[in-house]
Amino acid sequence: MNHPVPSHIPVMLPEVLRLLRPEAGGIYLDGTFGGGGYAQAILAAAPCTLWAIDRDPAAIARGASLAAQYPGRLHLIEGQFGSMLSLLSEHDVTALDGVVLDLGVSSYQLDEPSRGFSFRSDGPLDMRMGRAGPTAADLINALPERELADLLFELGEERASRRIARAIVAARAEEPITTTARLATIVRSVLRPDRSGIDPATRSFQALRIGVNDELGEIERGLEQAGQLLAPGGRLIVVSFHSLEDRIVKRFMGAAAGRMPSPSRHDPRGLSERAVAHFRTLTTRALRPAATEIAANPRSRSARLRALERLPSLSAGPEAYAP
Ligand SMILES: C[S@@+](CC[C@H](N)C(=O)[O-])C[C@H]1O[C@@H](n2cnc3c(N)ncnc32)[C@H](O)[C@@H]1O
Repeated sequence: MNHPVPSHIPVMLPEVLRLLRPEAGGIYLDGTFGGGGYAQAILAAAPCTLWAIDRDPAAIARGASLAAQYPGRLHLIEGQFGSMLSLLSEHDVTALDGVVLDLGVSSYQLDEPSRGFSFRSDGPLDMRMGRAGPTAADLINALPERELADLLFELGEERASRRIARAIVAARAEEPITTTARLATIVRSVLRPDRSGIDPATRSFQALRIGVNDELGEIERGLEQAGQLLAPGGRLIVVSFHSLEDRIVKRFMGAAAGRMPSPSRHDPRGLSERAVAHFRTLTTRALRPAATEIAANPRSRSARLRALERLPSLSAGPEAYAP
């Protein structure tokens, strides 16, 4: 049987490049290297230096050939973008001309059953993007029913969270739940498919993935640190794929540009006070992929892009830089 060769089609790449504007001698960070689609385009666009982070060792290993194509210009780091400040400071990088974050999982991860992200094929219930921490099976088999229900509700926006949690707890009492297929069957036994055609397991799998990888915490830490690393004129571009992510990005950017209070529940005062006059947003509303892109790459359909620029001078207020 022929297996399709896995690949990842970069989402909204022309928009990312237009907003990032890579320049000769610039220093950039791709915090979500993935399949290297953005990275390759940035390196090709200008003779710049690119630091690239991914928490997935498989992504870093795949990037070696691109690094060899651009000797001395692409530097790959295995780690989490929520720790970008310390990861980069180990290499004496303290200021950047641009940061891109393309959130979520790559097609390489989704399409590889052994990673346990997909309810479409059977695999171990893992869902970790990196090497460390508890797996989805650890959470599913250990969390008390109530916490499980809260996780499904808060991170999956699953309205049937209580019923699903009850079914999971009953099933795991018989035998631990260790595979994606068994979990999907349990969820489907509670929820019938609706007319949308979306698999009833979708929201539960999304919730678990976000929980296992602490994705929302990573986004908050990553945005905050990107804000600190950007040099005057430097730009932050974030592509998100669901409303929980986009809400954090929108609030952060609004607060950084002085339009909204309290960007982060972990740092309710710090950033808004520090950043209020230091940034301007480059996207009044989130940009969406063109219909032609969605037709060519259905995984792009929920993408939303937001971007921010650090103002040239700390003394200049945002009103001097209206878009
Ligand atoms: C959507 S893909 C990026 C695709 C990439 N832009 C491209 O063009 O090929 C997301 C990647 O980010 C990585 N990732 C997600 N969250 C991360 C985090 N907090 N820290 C580092 N890498 C992360 C995932 O492992 C995955 O490889």
